[in-house]
Amino acid sequence: MDQRPVGVFDSGVGGLSAVRELRKLLPSENIIYFGDTSRVPYGGRSPEILLKYARQDVHFLRSFDIKAILVACGTVSTTCLPILRRENDLPILGVVEPACRRAVQVTKTRRVGLIATAASVRSGAYEKCIGGLDPAVEVIAKACPLFVPLVENGRYRPGDTVIETVAREYLEPLRQTGIDTLILGCTHYPLLMDVIGSVMGPAVTLINASEEAAWDLKRALRDGGLLSPGPGGEATLYASDQPSDFRTVAQQFLREELHKPVLPVDIDR
Ligand code: SIN
Repeated sequence: MDQRPVGVFDSGVGGLSAVRELRKLLPSENIIYFGDTSRVPYGGRSPEILLKYARQDVHFLRSFDIKAILVACGTVSTTCLPILRRENDLPILGVVEPACRRAVQVTKTRRVGLIATAASVRSGAYEKCIGGLDPAVEVIAKACPLFVPLVENGRYRPGDTVIETVAREYLEPLRQTGIDTLILGCTHYPLLMDVIGSVMGPAVTLINASEEAAWDLKRALRDGGLLSPGPGGEATLYASDQPSDFRTVAQQFLREELHKPVLPVDIDR
């Protein structure tokens, strides 16, 4: 049993989709969340810059006495995870492995779609992970660079003509490939579940990487004897820019009212 908090980070608000799942699955855990709103989006950055940002994000979270880190950012998970794990002596989990495991379990046609940021798609991390689990499964990947800025700007609801047009443009060619499973490889995308589902149709199962990652963290904490004994945990949120705007969007992501302010951080200090 271990009452120390879990650290979670993302480029912005997207990782809160994982925090939402964690709050349901692990209500006794204290969570410290960092959203790097001054530098979002990460998805178009080079591997060198992503590593610099990821190290700073981890360094900030480690200024608290945390017991584990969930990298709730698809882009950092696909590009930096092995290095972060080598450099840190605590469990660091990402979103790629749990989403791939679930996709391989679910697919019947053995054709799995992936949507993610440009950096994640370029990394080939999902193909590598799925290939290691079942080499017969084909991955058809599509970068969707406009999704993150639209979600960050609150344009994720069904009926919003901008997001619906962009989603059709990205997803219609993917639907036509005959995939039966689609990995949402960016933690911003669970907010687009309804929009994405309406383009892909009911024959395609959507894999929510945030949800799978939360289950993975639960298993890791349990297996490591690190679960919190309770009582009820709370989430403390930090952002590197515009914390009060972040708070408004965060409440929509978490679907709960926040009783504390989002605290500012100078991440580049
Ligand atoms: C981004 O900042 O571009 C998205 C982060 C992610 O890949 O989850």
